[in-house]
Amino acid sequence: MGGFVIVYRMSVRQLLRLSPVWDAYKSLAAYPDYWYWRLRGRPLRHVPHIVKRRLLVDHARSYKLKVLVETGTNLGQMIAATLPYMDEIWSIELADWSYQNACRRFAGDGKVHLVHGDSGAKMHEVAPKLSQPCLFWLDAHDGDRLTPIREELDAIASHSHLVPGSVFLIDDSPCFDGRNQYPTMEWMHEFTRTRLPGYRLENATNILRILPESR
Ligand SMILES: C[S@@+](CC[C@H](N)C(=O)[O-])C[C@H]1O[C@@H](n2cnc3c(N)ncnc32)[C@H](O)[C@@H]1O
Repeated sequence: MGGFVIVYRMSVRQLLRLSPVWDAYKSLAAYPDYWYWRLRGRPLRHVPHIVKRRLLVDHARSYKLKVLVETGTNLGQMIAATLPYMDEIWSIELADWSYQNACRRFAGDGKVHLVHGDSGAKMHEVAPKLSQPCLFWLDAHDGDRLTPIREELDAIASHSHLVPGSVFLIDDSPCFDGRNQYPTMEWMHEFTRTRLPGYRLENATNILRILPESR
């Protein structure tokens, strides 16, 4: 009876999100979304997920990185898209539902390590377990207000064994204007200069990229 009441109170969208059909729908919907975006002249206010996936895969390939560390698991779309190219994926998620959903989705896949909690804090637990340079996809945020980005970067930079060779991609660069919890671009440049020596900061397609000067 209790289960019936819970299901009754859920919207159709929430119910769909619980079913495997949702993952298939999201994967298929990515293609028309991408082509519609191109038709509209590639507006920066909505960069399709497929573009971000390609960016991650391209960086993993060109910097020869086989470990992905993601913050903000959400539906696990980036994990699924990059899994064929990676030996190991770590993903940290704060929201209970998203974490549990990802646990169901990737159950039994030994390459995927899911971590539940605030990525600003959890990065300190994950970093010592990483034994080689990584591709970091820093994408944990609550809209354009709350972000653990400063804590994440601080945690990573504090583990100096990780820094040489790693690559950092950070979504939603327009948010980096000093409002709410977001740092300014000046802060990001200063952080890169002082805490990540040998790196340069670039901004393209609304994604910040902190890249090693030499490969
Ligand atoms: C834009 S979605 C991530 C999308 C995903 N990275 C992808 O590429 O498919 C942002 C996610 O960050 C999560 N989040 C927000 N604040 C967080 C925090 N402090 N620590 C970890 N996850 C957080 C949200 O619950 C949400 O699932």
